[in-house]
Amino acid sequence: MTDRVKRIGVPDIRAHKGGVPIVSLTAYTTPVARAFDAHVDLLLVGDSVGMVLYGMSTTLPVTLEMMIAHGQAVMRGAERACVMVDLPFGAYQESPQQAFRAASRVLAETGCAAVKIEGGIEMADTIRFLVQRGVPVCGHIGLMPQSVQVAGGFRATGRKEDEAEKLRADARAVDVAGAFAVVLEGVVEPLAAEITREVTLPTIGIGASPQCDGQVLVADDVLGLFTDFTPRFVKRYAELGAQIGPAAASYAEDVRARRFPGPEHCFTVRKGG
Ligand code: KIV
Repeated sequence: MTDRVKRIGVPDIRAHKGGVPIVSLTAYTTPVARAFDAHVDLLLVGDSVGMVLYGMSTTLPVTLEMMIAHGQAVMRGAERACVMVDLPFGAYQESPQQAFRAASRVLAETGCAAVKIEGGIEMADTIRFLVQRGVPVCGHIGLMPQSVQVAGGFRATGRKEDEAEKLRADARAVDVAGAFAVVLEGVVEPLAAEITREVTLPTIGIGASPQCDGQVLVADDVLGLFTDFTPRFVKRYAELGAQIGPAAASYAEDVRARRFPGPEHCFTVRKGG
């Protein structure tokens, strides 16, 4: 019998409130999920996949089918981490019923533990509807990439008092509606800390505060796969992107000089068969 690793569940994530910070990274593929699995509590199959892997300029064109395919890929690579999948733009905003249809497909077809949706007060009824029907939901407030057209760009929020008041109300609404956690993205530091103290669910910060109950970053940012731009809230822990061009150049040189493949890469005919 093989030893199966116990998978971290939604209640385990919730139990981090006020304790050891939740460690979360995005993952979109099986090999990356496999590499992160032992080190993180929560893997997010974010709709940032559209910008990170597909070169889209926003997350808006990402489809439910893409999220399901990447959710399945991540679930194949992760046996320990809790996995949650973003519902993409257009798959849940119309009504709680539409959200349930999308979320139930994601849970059933990927085997992931939870979904994440963007929105505060305006999504509270939808969160309640999903949770009452067995769908664990993580909220996402502050900078919401799916609303970038309304917000007029990717920018931090909470500096003005009316923005701060709206964020407090959003956090309370998501909490009361029954979400098991909430992502605070691009929320100014003292406010993110204040919200964290005031809600009963764990907050997971990205561009927020070290006082949040956890942190999430986009995998490709952490790994330094983008060489052109690093947002202020990102810390790069590797510079993998810088190695890709030189590796391709060395391969090209070897092929042109007939140094690759070498004898060790070729199949030989065995004597007698
Ligand atoms: O899609 C995503 O990667 C996210 C994180 C930025 C929180 O929602």
